[in-house]
Amino acid sequence: MGDRNDRVPMMTGRTRRSTIGPTPAGGNSKQANGSKQSSAGEKTPSHPSHSNGKVKKEKQVHEPVRTPQERSKICERLSCHVLQESLLSSASGYSNYRGILNWCVVMLVLSNARLFLENLLKYGILVDPIQVVSLFLKDPYSWPAPCLVIVSNVFIMAALYTERRLSVGTISETTGTFLYLVNLTTLLCFPSATVLTLTSMTPAGGVFALGVYTILFMKLYSYKDVNMWCREIRHTKARTLTRSHSCPSVAQSNGSAVHAHVSYPGNLTHRDIYYFVFAPTLCYELNFPRSPRIRKSFLLRRLFEMLFFIQLLIGLVQQWIVPTIQNSMKPFQDMDFSRMMERMLKLAVPNHLIWLIFFYWFFHSSMNFVAELMRFGDREFYRDWWNSETVTYFWSNWNIPVHKWCLRHFYKPIMMRGANKWVAQTAVFLVSAFFHEYLVSVPLKMFRLWAFMGMMSQIPLAWFVGRFLRGNHGNAAVWISLIIGQPVAVLMYVHDYYVIHYMSQS
Ligand SMILES: CC(C)(COP(=O)(O)OP(=O)(O)OC[C@H]1O[C@@H](n2cnc3c(N)ncnc32)[C@H](O)[C@@H]1OP(=O)(O)O)[C@@H](O)C(=O)NCCC(=O)NCCS
Repeated sequence: MGDRNDRVPMMTGRTRRSTIGPTPAGGNSKQANGSKQSSAGEKTPSHPSHSNGKVKKEKQVHEPVRTPQERSKICERLSCHVLQESLLSSASGYSNYRGILNWCVVMLVLSNARLFLENLLKYGILVDPIQVVSLFLKDPYSWPAPCLVIVSNVFIMAALYTERRLSVGTISETTGTFLYLVNLTTLLCFPSATVLTLTSMTPAGGVFALGVYTILFMKLYSYKDVNMWCREIRHTKARTLTRSHSCPSVAQSNGSAVHAHVSYPGNLTHRDIYYFVFAPTLCYELNFPRSPRIRKSFLLRRLFEMLFFIQLLIGLVQQWIVPTIQNSMKPFQDMDFSRMMERMLKLAVPNHLIWLIFFYWFFHSSMNFVAELMRFGDREFYRDWWNSETVTYFWSNWNIPVHKWCLRHFYKPIMMRGANKWVAQTAVFLVSAFFHEYLVSVPLKMFRLWAFMGMMSQIPLAWFVGRFLRGNHGNAAVWISLIIGQPVAVLMYVHDYYVIHYMSQS
């Protein structure tokens, strides 16, 4: 036994076939099997060619002379077994599950089609595009959210003004930092105070306005940092940012990169700052990589996707999410845990589907549409987060604009000041948790910290998955946290909103 075990790993099917050479049929299957390999010294009475050199010699005399290729062809015909594992065993190293993936998609479509039909039979058609408008506007003559967004221009102008003064040295760095502090703090406080006080502001309008202000906050913060770095470089006698830093090469599909090189302080113009404000990035650069032209067919495809998926999203929310949530209120009020769990799992499927569609709509269709329109060359808006085997990999790959901003303007500066990785990561997640809560609590006018806790819980979850789970198990854990985590948060907020606004009235 020991001898056989020693030999097996060394022999692949092909080499073993070639070792049997002119052996007659009958001996080959045992050899390919790996268990009864006839080595040179092994004696097998039924096969004289192996055991007796004399007989072998005689036989060879009568056989026609064959080329090595012919001999190997005959040998291949003789053996049909190879030492190998079954495909589904992990030792086989097999990884092409494309067919299984297609099967999953077919099963998903079929099971959701059944759910969808059940929903239609139960509730009828609930899709109502007019109702969407009322989510944003209470009064058709009062448009508080768009007005609030227009006001944000004041903060952009203030940033540009501060930078121009700093560039010519009429104000000091300390004064500039103070002005930015005031500008950026007001940028966050003013819209939230407006949303909280204006009765005509709807929750959806509030989310829209605060979303714009949050993006602007991150952009102006980046604008401040990059211009400060430019001044530091200027002070150290370097006159411009190096091209290698500011203009990475653009992928082939975008066409070759076109560089319109701008150097500090030539970038401090209205045109430059507004290009940055509308560009699909949160990180400022003096010379963004630009695509050479607008590809019309690409632009139209993305536009079509944008229009189609937004309709689909609205329809799915109205038809599928709203009735499920409405039916969840009673179990939550009665604290009926088994029914609460059933409702939560029921919500998980449409919620997850909607989240996936939202991901494609926002990060692929919409961002590529804007980028193509502005000839913005860097289209890396997401990476392969679906393959995440750790929670940190997910957060570093699903929303690249935010991740890049976090790395460049928060994580790395903290690390460079000597903080360790865990402290820096916790600080990033703390800021992220604050903004998630800001974007939910203020528009709902209800402070519950569910979003904050959801984001902060990513730190222990990341530790647990990284420490105990690997490979497919880690990937499954990330998917489960996404599928289950979100509906829990949604139900918490909706339940509390319902209790505050409807139960108190009744
Ligand atoms: C916290 C977070 C930034 C960590 O990212 P990460 O990629 O796991 O971080 P890593 O420790 O691997 O380091 C990343 C970078 O920092 C650099 N770095 C590490 N230590 C450093 C140090 N002491 N000094 C300078 N740079 C350092 C690394 O070299 C690496 O650089 P590279 O990207 O150029 O290769 C990321 O998880 C994150 O973005 N989280 C928040 C995401 C979020 O909230 N998104 C909201 C979406 S809705």
